Amino acid sequence: MITADITVHVRPGGALRGTMTNGNTTGIRVPGDKSISHRALILGALGDGVTQVRGFLPAGDTLATLRAMRALGVTVEQHDAATLTVHGRGLHGLVPPDGSIDCVNAGTLIRLLVGVMAGQPFPSVLDGSGQLRRRPMRRVTDPLRQMGAQIEDSDGKAPLHISPASLHSFTYPMPVASAQVKSCVLLAGLFADGPVTVIEPGPARDHTERMLRSVGANVTVEGPRVTVTPGSTLAPLDLTIPGDMSSAAFPLVAALLAAGDAVRIENVGVNPTRTGIVDILRLMGAEIELVNERDEAGEPVADLVVRRAALRGAAIGGDLIVRAIDEFPALMVAATQAEGETLVTGAQELRVKETDRIAVMAAELRKLGAEIEERPDGFRVVGPQKLRGATAHGHDDHRVAMSLVVAGLVAEGETVVDDARCMDDSFPGFMETLRALGADVS
Ligand code: S3P
Repeated sequence: MITADITVHVRPGGALRGTMTNGNTTGIRVPGDKSISHRALILGALGDGVTQVRGFLPAGDTLATLRAMRALGVTVEQHDAATLTVHGRGLHGLVPPDGSIDCVNAGTLIRLLVGVMAGQPFPSVLDGSGQLRRRPMRRVTDPLRQMGAQIEDSDGKAPLHISPASLHSFTYPMPVASAQVKSCVLLAGLFADGPVTVIEPGPARDHTERMLRSVGANVTVEGPRVTVTPGSTLAPLDLTIPGDMSSAAFPLVAALLAAGDAVRIENVGVNPTRTGIVDILRLMGAEIELVNERDEAGEPVADLVVRRAALRGAAIGGDLIVRAIDEFPALMVAATQAEGETLVTGAQELRVKETDRIAVMAAELRKLGAEIEERPDGFRVVGPQKLRGATAHGHDDHRVAMSLVVAGLVAEGETVVDDARCMDDSFPGFMETLRALGADVS
């Protein structure tokens, strides 16, 4: 399907503000968590019974997962954009798809689904867009093959051709801290002949483990070792998905750089494996309050309250990298406005995201006049820097496009971001959200 791309125009202007109702600051909301939305569909499909999902993210990536589950014989009712009923077929009830499954741009979908498909008694093919076909798949096919899976790839990339095979008990010391790899191996473990363990080198997001536990799977976590023991059937879910911290990061950074008064972002997932961006921005001098903290279906949730702040540079590495892995494009923008040096190290994974986010963000921000020093495993920025409006490209990478729009809010003159339709891959309504804060974007 070819849809016309969109171009965003950003004019810097008045200070951003929290939306006011009756004199009280009411908040903005961001769409549901992308990682949890993918997992709710996949585990709902494998559950015995009817799963109810509220707060689903109806975005490009997660709608690809919805279509994939339907292709595998799962009935999914979409009552409104964010409310789903998934009629689970049980662990052994998926049916052979008609043709290959199109994962479009969704790396999480292809990498989680290959773990499930490796354990099925029928063959399948997983494919995606040109962009997805450029992303590395050996990180998931290697451990799956070591478990006994039969997978043919195209020089380590998609399309992936999966044939039926028996999966064996296995322990995998993961070479990279990746939730997609961890989740892939754990999901394959549901179909193995004995316990499957991953040993994590860093605290990658743990939504799969949490959700597997909540559907009654036998999952144990001992330090960096996560083990799934197959055997039990999976119960259906009844789940309200919180807002996505990785989407909240954009209004968060925008508010820090340009807010006139407090901005409240309501109902955001604050799982500690996802709050690296809050920790990093606090390290840079931001005041971000977490209020109304609560727990929903095994995931911590809170409202974020943020005010404009004079940021200072910081050294960012270690576990903060994986805990904020999707937020570095927005963070690079924040770093241009911070006083002094921001140095990011140990973040080479950024080079294999939807794009090489170090190279692409550095190149696009340079068009706005920024000076960014690229490093093999990160970047160095000395600020504050004056940005000038220019035309920049989104590169079909949602987080790049949205970060450039945020940069435009603090640039002098108009910024144009083309190739920006991809914003819908994770954040439908991004433009409306910025406009609700008073930003001049069209
Ligand atoms: C995700 C894991 C991360 C992240 C991606 C979503 C997930 O990827 O970048 O946006 O839902 O498991 P990696 O596992 O490659 O770090």
